[in-house]
Amino acid sequence: MHNIQWIVCEDYEQLSAAAGHIFERQIIEKPGSVLGLATGDTPLGLYDFLADRCRREGLDFSRITTFNLDEYYPMQPDHPQSYRRFMNEHLFSRVNIQSAHTFVPNGAAADPQAACRNYEALLDRMGGIDLQLLGVGHNGHIGFNEPGDRLVAFTHVTDLTQRTLQANARFFNSIDEVPRRAITMGMGTILKARAIVCLIAGADKHPVVEAMQTDWISPACPATFLKLHANVTVICDRKAYEG
Ligand code: F6R
Repeated sequence: MHNIQWIVCEDYEQLSAAAGHIFERQIIEKPGSVLGLATGDTPLGLYDFLADRCRREGLDFSRITTFNLDEYYPMQPDHPQSYRRFMNEHLFSRVNIQSAHTFVPNGAAADPQAACRNYEALLDRMGGIDLQLLGVGHNGHIGFNEPGDRLVAFTHVTDLTQRTLQANARFFNSIDEVPRRAITMGMGTILKARAIVCLIAGADKHPVVEAMQTDWISPACPATFLKLHANVTVICDRKAYEG
């Protein structure tokens, strides 16, 4: 069988705390860690946990570097729905991280292909990701590696699927305002992380959990590729686990 370690929590609060303890330990044990981060609803409780630990107990982010999985394209960093803005609001402004050490793909790049190459090169120069946080889409996407005939290995520009556009329309005035493309780490970029924590909450993501528990791997469900990694912990709530 594959290597995924499953932690099943009773509710979202427990899930967030379980993830929080793993990130806290990582930061304490290696204060200069490189963390891979995600946006979306699922990590919000984790970010609250980390902000709280920083404020109350001095959990120290001063030497931490972060790389986010993805950003819409095109997207200005100060747009209310940019992932850069999301991260500033939900985590970076609440902990003592140096903003120059926080990296999000450049949604405003004139040459997005060059931006992808630079992001990948910068990640390598920083020594690679120690601990990568992931969520999963209802369609099994990871980052914006959407289901399809094939996956792309490294950071790239991708078209969002209709399902993802619909899921993300809730943050915009209408679905027409959701950018059609994104810059995302590739599946190979993600699998290069030394350890991965994947958070899954809610019964509507149960089909992805089921696919992750089989022994097949398919680009039709990108989350199944996590089975190829030696150090993946999936933290899910009971609703996601049992459906
Ligand atoms: C976000 C990302 C996406 C989300 C996924 C789940 O940076 O890469 O893959 O993790 O869409 O989103 P939520 O948590 O909102 O259900």
